[in-house]
Amino acid sequence: MFELPNQDEIVPHGIPQTPDDITEIVLKAMSHTKDDRLREILTALVKHLHAFGREVKLNEEEFMAAINAVTRLGHLTRDRHNETMVMSDALGFSTLVMILNQARTPEQISPALLGPFYSRKDPEYPLGFNISRDTPKESDIPLFVSGRVTSRDGKPLPGALVEVWHASPEGLYENQDDSQPYLNLRGKFRTDADGRYHFRTIRPASYPIPTHGIVGEMLKAQSRHPFRAAHLHFTVSAEGHQTLVTQIFPKDDPFLESDCVFGVTSADLAMEFPIHDDGRAPDPDVRGRYCTLEVDFDLSPGVSRLPASPIDS
Ligand code: BEZ
Ligand code: FE
Repeated sequence: MFELPNQDEIVPHGIPQTPDDITEIVLKAMSHTKDDRLREILTALVKHLHAFGREVKLNEEEFMAAINAVTRLGHLTRDRHNETMVMSDALGFSTLVMILNQARTPEQISPALLGPFYSRKDPEYPLGFNISRDTPKESDIPLFVSGRVTSRDGKPLPGALVEVWHASPEGLYENQDDSQPYLNLRGKFRTDADGRYHFRTIRPASYPIPTHGIVGEMLKAQSRHPFRAAHLHFTVSAEGHQTLVTQIFPKDDPFLESDCVFGVTSADLAMEFPIHDDGRAPDPDVRGRYCTLEVDFDLSPGVSRLPASPIDS
């Protein structure tokens, strides 16, 4: 039930005399918002939204198109697909929020957006485990990933949690593709006493983001392609340290400079994924070519908090 505010809490906001007055009037009506942060956010939102309407002189048809677009974001969002999140990603807003919230020094790996496919259901595996649970294909290139998690002062962080998830070489996450085993290409690992982690997977490929909905229509209207540079997603967290959310891209990917969700937030995220064919793969059952990736993470002091999943229901 909607609880009515006390009489003395209600602000008579007045009646506009001119079209310009409407913004001040709305701000006045909201001025008794009890939660300080909510008041700050909504006040800024109204100011910017009204300024936007004025700047582009939004007409009524365009206004209805915007209302319908937001409505469709909701309708297209299901437990395995979050169109609202994909829209935020394609507008660069997710990347902005990620950068604003993860203070990093120039020597540290840059943060990058979480994306719409992060799940907290990923199993925790022993170090070295192969997260590629699908039947191997001739074209798959085994990928061995390893590295170290340290704090800013270089001390190893044993027991740090490294979560990884990525798309198949066909460009689909397991939650988008019924032909893949459940939780394929997803896993969590704990660093050893020396802060080291390692696991096995397959080399990811560049892929298009889902374009069946309103995000696809927007990209088309803007003459933008829907491709993401190939990447592995990571979250890295440890007690007393800020959780790092990032992505690592192969240096030779053709979409680094036109990633459709602005995921390549810094050149340092583009790394070598060298291919070897020397019969010395870390796993003896890999006989042909394989590739490797070495990524070290150093975490800033702070509060360890894992992100919420956009798809776990
Ligand atoms: C992804 O990284 O998987 C992703 C990011 C934004 C939109 C769609 C997919
Ligand atoms: Fe991704």
